[in-house]
Amino acid sequence: MSRKGEPGQVAAASGLDPRPDAAQFLMDVDRRLPITVVSGSGCMLRSASGKQYLDLVAGIAVNLLGYSHPALVEAICSQASRLINAGDMVHTEAQIELARQLVELTFPSRAFFCHSGAEANEAAIKLARKWGKLRKAGAYEIVTAVDSFHGRTLAAVTAGGRPRNSDPFTPLPPGFLHVPFNDIEGIRRVTNSNTAAVMLEPILGSAGVIPASAGYLREVRQWCDENHLLLIFDEVQTGLGRTGSWFAFEKYGVKPDIVTIAKGLGGGVPIGACLASPAADVFVPGDHGSTVGGNALACAAAFTVLQTIESESLVENAASVGAYLAAGLRTLAPQEVRGTGLMLAMDLRGPVARALQEKCLEMGLLINVIGDRTVRFVPPLILTRAEVDTAVEVMASALAALEL
Ligand SMILES: Cc1ncc(COP(=O)(O)O)c(C=O)c1O
Repeated sequence: MSRKGEPGQVAAASGLDPRPDAAQFLMDVDRRLPITVVSGSGCMLRSASGKQYLDLVAGIAVNLLGYSHPALVEAICSQASRLINAGDMVHTEAQIELARQLVELTFPSRAFFCHSGAEANEAAIKLARKWGKLRKAGAYEIVTAVDSFHGRTLAAVTAGGRPRNSDPFTPLPPGFLHVPFNDIEGIRRVTNSNTAAVMLEPILGSAGVIPASAGYLREVRQWCDENHLLLIFDEVQTGLGRTGSWFAFEKYGVKPDIVTIAKGLGGGVPIGACLASPAADVFVPGDHGSTVGGNALACAAAFTVLQTIESESLVENAASVGAYLAAGLRTLAPQEVRGTGLMLAMDLRGPVARALQEKCLEMGLLINVIGDRTVRFVPPLILTRAEVDTAVEVMASALAALEL
């Protein structure tokens, strides 16, 4: 280490915002905004140069409690002072308690913990394949939706229905079939004796917040029951209050056999989970694992995130502030506003999303864009109506300044 800082602090190398050396040291995997953030509080982020940003992105649907939430900070510090990680050869109280809590929030099941959404889906895919071997004469195919997103591991990126994410990495693992979303006929058409599972996001998040229609998921459930298929819901983005209910599957009244959770679970601390009902819970020791996944620190953080969502009524807040935000966005006269709770998207009338994002950034507002005309809103669940008013005002001024 050539630069020394105080313990617990990364030394400020340049004080510049953006840092000119970022591209020298970091792989070019994400199109990042030209700011370097150093701290946050509530829904506000502060950059290295001291500028404040109201954040409607939350690390893309991750920081459910915003930044520096006292309960989360306290839980992390307290757990860190006792036990960060004990490895996967032993049990920890924190992991068992978190699993119990998640099972109570979902359906009778057991949990496997990892670090991310992609890994949670990887676990679900492996469960489906092993289940097919054991219970369905070697069936291994998994049906997923065109334009869905399930993460970046090789299996998850293959499961996802976006060739631009998977094409650079061919040959891909076999056994994934992509069908149009919201069209039960697609699933019916490709189902055969090799089909083991259907895997869906209840609301396509990265494709621009495209909700399943009310009847679709019920039809999929029925089809899975009739044809002896597992139903996997990827609730990595929709789970944990984001849509104004604990899980999107509750909104639709459709229970999956396996659900995957990550993103917001640790409030920013990496943790993912795959929960499987008894029928799908086919792993035995040696089938799967993670050395540090579900360590005591991450589990204690996640436990506190769940408790705080409950104690601060954040599911209800997501529903009501989400409706308020949707109404505010409609005053901006976009082409369309869609979504539910605090998982919303706004289609603009032209290919101006990036220009709007840049202008908003200049004006202290962080928004996320998808493609060239869609803005996605997945803010912390603690967002207030006053913050919505500020955000809508900023976007109105930005649109006016850009003459859009
Ligand atoms: C629905 C869904 N599944 C899986 C993932 C992958 O999660 P992670 O980036 O934690 O691997 C994402 C990330 O955006 C997602 O939106």
